[in-house]
Formats: sequence, C-alpha cells, structure tokens
Amino acid sequence: MLNCYKSQIPCRRQRGIKLELPQEAGYLVFAAAANVLSNLTQSVGPLPAGIKDPAASNGVSNLQRCRAAGYLTLAAVLLAGINHREAIVMIDGKKVLFSGMQSTGNLTLGNYLGALKNWVSLSDEYECFYSVVDMHSITVRQDPSELRKRARNLLTLYIAAGLDPQKNCIYYQSHVSGHAELAWILNCFTYIGELNRMTQFKDKAAKHADNINAGLYTYPVLMAADILLYQADVVPVGKDQLQHLEITRDIAQRFNAIYGDIFTIPEPYMGKAGANIRSLQNPEKKMSKSDENANASIYLMDDPDTIIRKFKRAVTDSEASVRYREEQPGIKNLIEIYCACTGKTPEETEKEFDGKGYSDFKPAVGEAVVSVLKPIQDRFYDLSKDKAYIDNIIKENAGKANYYATKTLRKVQKKIGFPERIR
Ligand code: TYM
Repeated sequence: MLNCYKSQIPCRRQRGIKLELPQEAGYLVFAAAANVLSNLTQSVGPLPAGIKDPAASNGVSNLQRCRAAGYLTLAAVLLAGINHREAIVMIDGKKVLFSGMQSTGNLTLGNYLGALKNWVSLSDEYECFYSVVDMHSITVRQDPSELRKRARNLLTLYIAAGLDPQKNCIYYQSHVSGHAELAWILNCFTYIGELNRMTQFKDKAAKHADNINAGLYTYPVLMAADILLYQADVVPVGKDQLQHLEITRDIAQRFNAIYGDIFTIPEPYMGKAGANIRSLQNPEKKMSKSDENANASIYLMDDPDTIIRKFKRAVTDSEASVRYREEQPGIKNLIEIYCACTGKTPEETEKEFDGKGYSDFKPAVGEAVVSVLKPIQDRFYDLSKDKAYIDNIIKENAGKANYYATKTLRKVQKKIGFPERIR
C-alpha cells in the first residue's frame, strides 16, 4: 500500500525522501500515524488552517487527505530517523510556482494576458503561490481604504479568472511577515550598483519625483524575497519584470555561494503571446494601470461597449494591411492581443484578415477580448457577494503561506548566524 523510496527530486539540488502515497491510502495510513504527527507538528510548527488533525476527524475531504499525505511524508522521514531539516518534501510532488500583482490602480488587459492568464494555465502543473503584493503597493502613496478595497478586489479577481483557491495558495503579502524579514536579510546581500540599474526604479522615480523613498529603491529586493521564500522554481511574469527576475537570481546565487544550497534559483516564464502588451494610444509605451489616458488601456472591468470603442480608436497606421511586423507597431500589438485571446498564431491572423481593412480587424480584436473578459467579470460580481467565502480563503491561505515561508526563513536565519529560538 505504501510505496517508499529514496529519490533525487529533480527540481531541488538536495537529496530528498519521497513517499508515493495512493490518495485512498492516505487517510488510513495517516490516521495510524497520528501519534507521530502530534510530535511532528510540534517540531515543524502548526498545520496550516484547513488541515485537520486526522486523529480528531471522522471524515476528511479529498483535498485534506491529499494535503495530509504531504505531512505523512514528513512523519515517515522522522520515523526513518532522518533529520527533517535536511529532507526535502514536496506536497503532491510538484515544482513550486510563485507570482504576484500589485493592488494599485485597475488591472489592465496587459496584466491579464501577460500574467494572470498564464497563472491559470500553469496552476495544475505546479504547487502555486499567488500573492496580492500590497506591501509593494505602498512604495507609491495610497489611500488606505482604497488600498484595502483594491487588494480584496484583486484577490477576488484571481479566483474569478480561474484560479482554484483550494489548489492554489492565494493570499495577501502583508499577512506573511516572512516577506519583510527575508527582504531585510537579502538587502544585506544586494549592491547599490545593482539597484541603480533597475529601469523600473528610474521610471517610477521620474513619475513620483516628490516621493523617491527607500522602499521604491529596494523594491526588487522585496520581490526577490517573495520568490525565494517559497523556493519557487518558476515565476510567470510579463516582459517588464524580467530585470527583477534577473536580480533575484543574482541575489540567490550570491547567497548560495556563501551559505550552500539554500535557495532554488527561479526561472521566469512568459507565454507565447501577450508578454508585452502595448498602449492602444502609443505603442511605444507598455499598457499600464497608471496611464493618464483612459483610452490607452483596456481595464479588466471595462464593459463590452467601452472595450469595442477603445479598440476602434486604437492608434494604428496608414498601411491598411493586417501584418505582424515591427514597422506597424500598433497593428502588431493588436495582432498580439488577438492571438493571446483566440489562441491563433500571427500567420493565421494575417491570413484571416488578408484583403480586409482595419475597420474589420479592430472590432474583431475587441470582440475577442470581450469574449475572454466578460465571463471573468460575471464571476467576479458573483464572488464579491459572498463575503464569508472570500474571508475564509484569505484566512486559510495566509496560514498555508506562512507555514512555507517560515520554513525557508528559519533555514536562512540559522545559516547566517541568528540565535536559535528556545521553545
Ligand atoms: P505588476 O503589478 O505591475 O504587474 C503584474 C503582472 O502583469 C504583468 N504586466 C504585463 N504583461 C504584459 N503586458 C503588459 N503591458 C503588462 N503590464 C503588466 C507584469 O509583468 C506582472 O507579471 N513587481 C511586480 C509584482 C511582484 C511580483 C513579485 C511578480 C511583486 N513580487 C514576485 C512576480 C514575482 C509588479 O509590479 O507587477
């Protein structure tokens, strides 16, 4: 029933122990291991909210049973006499994915196509952590009640877009203090020269000249902490975040070179289409939440008429042919959007609109976008009505995120020489 073997887990460089546990077997064996578990929870901290003590429960859901299997793995590691700190345990044997979005402004089509859409398509393959990064948001002044409202809307949108909150850890960054604690440590392993090169800092500093604060400057270090805290293997982002991914990898490699293999080195992930959506009014600029021209961006909550109107007004050129080429940046951007929404390739799109003008193509792009956004909007409005459901997700997932974050944090603190906690 229980198939136990030693293995080299591919996404980690350390040696690990893996137990293969059929789901049906999980609960029975897990119940038998209840005594071990009670010791185990003392040594690794409390079980995340939502995972019941099997000894106390008469019936558990499949999800709980599945998660419980992860803890049983740890129990077995202890039983086998192996120090659990040295053992690597992956819940459900999956690689880890981390990503996040700022809860500032209104989400744009760029955020959806560049990030959120890929999050959904990758969510079955990885153990996923999706954060509402509200701590990043305060690098620019925010109205407190507005920030709270936007953070909740963003978390609800994650779910409305298709992320299953039972399978994915969807949480507020500010609910996991480990982000700030690891960021401080990583600040001490990041050079001023590296931060000076960050183009996003330069852009934001120019935009907010009256508030060039230290948080804005060290923003990439907090982002590195977000990713490294969960030992993420992969980070799906749009193109504008690649430089931040690069510095994250540099910091992690520098830390590992001194202290050993502590952090997983993350890889960025970008989808085939949509990683670099441009402004509809100026294709030289990226589509952005903070653009002052409302016609430049499609917002996720724009109604269908507004979406079609904005596409009809999109700045293009006088060539009047639907071609995917650098010389026609406005049309290239619209093709990119069309492909990301329909799954077609640029070549297929060129063929479809061969001999047709922009007056056919622009509304077709609008329709394709509406067909993607409308169901998300409907789900968002439905979910928003269920306060208790969303509250419960916030509570449970904060517990889970904290659990994993603390594991990495304690390891890092020990390595750099902070004193052990006395229990
Ligand atoms: P943010 O909130 O600006 O954007 C969220 C995600 O949307 C992508 N994106 C775009 N993709 C394509 N075209 C566009 N026009 C476009 N605009 C935005 C971004 O690349 C991003 O993936 N620093 C991050 C948030 C963050 C984070 C992290 C991300 C904090 N910690 C750790 C990944 C991992 C940011 O400001 O994203």
